[in-house]
Amino acid sequence: MQKEIRFVTADEAVKVVKSGDHIHFSSVASAPKVLIDALCRRGDAGELKDVKIHHLHTEGAAPYTDEKYEGIFFHQAFFVGGNVRKNVQAGYADYIPIFLSETQKLYRSGVLPCDVAMIQVSTPDKHGYVSLGTSVDATLAAIECARCVIAVVNKNVPRAWGDAMIPVSMIDMFVEDNNLLEPAHFSEPDEIETAIGKNCAALIEDGATLQMGIGAIPNAVLAQLGNHKNLGIHTEMFADGVLPLVEKGVINGAAKTIDKGKMVSTFLMGSQQCYDFIDDNPMVLMKDVGYTNDPFIIAKNPKVTAINSALQVDLTGQVCADSLGTKFYSGVGGQIDFVYGASMSEGGKAIIAMPSVTKKGISKIAPVLTPGAGVVTTRNHIHWFVTEYGAVNLYGKSLQERAKLMISIAHPEYREELDRAAFERFGPHFHFVAK
Ligand code: COA
Repeated sequence: MQKEIRFVTADEAVKVVKSGDHIHFSSVASAPKVLIDALCRRGDAGELKDVKIHHLHTEGAAPYTDEKYEGIFFHQAFFVGGNVRKNVQAGYADYIPIFLSETQKLYRSGVLPCDVAMIQVSTPDKHGYVSLGTSVDATLAAIECARCVIAVVNKNVPRAWGDAMIPVSMIDMFVEDNNLLEPAHFSEPDEIETAIGKNCAALIEDGATLQMGIGAIPNAVLAQLGNHKNLGIHTEMFADGVLPLVEKGVINGAAKTIDKGKMVSTFLMGSQQCYDFIDDNPMVLMKDVGYTNDPFIIAKNPKVTAINSALQVDLTGQVCADSLGTKFYSGVGGQIDFVYGASMSEGGKAIIAMPSVTKKGISKIAPVLTPGAGVVTTRNHIHWFVTEYGAVNLYGKSLQERAKLMISIAHPEYREELDRAAFERFGPHFHFVAK
């Protein structure tokens, strides 16, 4: 028998939150805005203290990180997105370093309590199921573990399939809201990003299974794949860049070993067109992040090609992708999950791709990482490294060989300076090492 759904207002629903509770919000465009606003009203009224808030990247405002909520809410992010970055850097919010694959495990293992899960779902179907839409990630684990699950039922949430489908019996309270989902904005690739896209595309073989990370590079790479064949998707996220390739039949999942013919992801960020694409689409499987990002599951598909980006890389191949020195900019996300998974896949390629310099002209290849910078991909994990000046494979190369290779695709203006730094570090032998 189907559970009867009784709607309450957002203000009524958030009354279940107690001081000291841990709350999880579903991520990206599925952040439950009406509940967030209602929770902040309770904060404004002085009814709560020491409430911990966890989530991955969310679109839209994150008012609970404001200075005025000190002692009331404390956001401990699993990933530092643009809407919380300033306040994480100022110390009003914080970050839990964690592989994306293990965010679900934090809840399921009880390392982190989840008292209230606040989620956004599609309207119930005739079987009594709703879809988590764009956010399965750690949200499914939060739902399983929470004392109380509050769902915003929104007709604009796409009915994504896979683990996204949950029975309404898993939900305790329902609130109605039909706001459009927040779209994620991506700029068109510029000349440098296009050159990086071409260098990455040259490494992608027909029949590859792709993972693309976050940032400007993924769309630039996808734009170059129009003549490829039988590509597959097993990723943690995708955005609009995949849509023309699906339409053209380039992405068809035909060469995959597991989830053949399916595009597997755990969250997605895109425009309304992207949300429409996953709505009731049997080709898209939204899965638990413990599945999508498990390196041993990733490695089951052949030719897994993982393309992620970096903030800074040193001459030995240590990749910083989470902070600018001591200032946290993002998080480890699924970078290592996929770098490791791709490197174990038969014919797989792990690629770190980035412009050689920032928009302000600072070299992103540095002799050593800035103090405080976090090593996300270690020098032991790195394989391919790409800039607009080319692609080099550091795997199996010595420190001095790596430095030569890195310098060869640094911005020409910085090559001499980097060469001098390598000479000081490695001594005169450095000049005899062949590229
Ligand atoms: N020194 C100083 N500033 C730097 C810098 C450097 N070496 N590298 C980048 N910056 C600045 C840029 O100028 C830019 O500043 P702005 O915001 O004022 O314009 C900012 O840092 C972001 O750099 P950008 O190159 O535009 O980042 P991006 O949007 O392409 O994202 C990552 C790159 C690394 C942050 C992103 O890929 C990420 O979060 N990765 C970690 C997680 C991950 O890989 N997950 C896997 C898949 S989701």
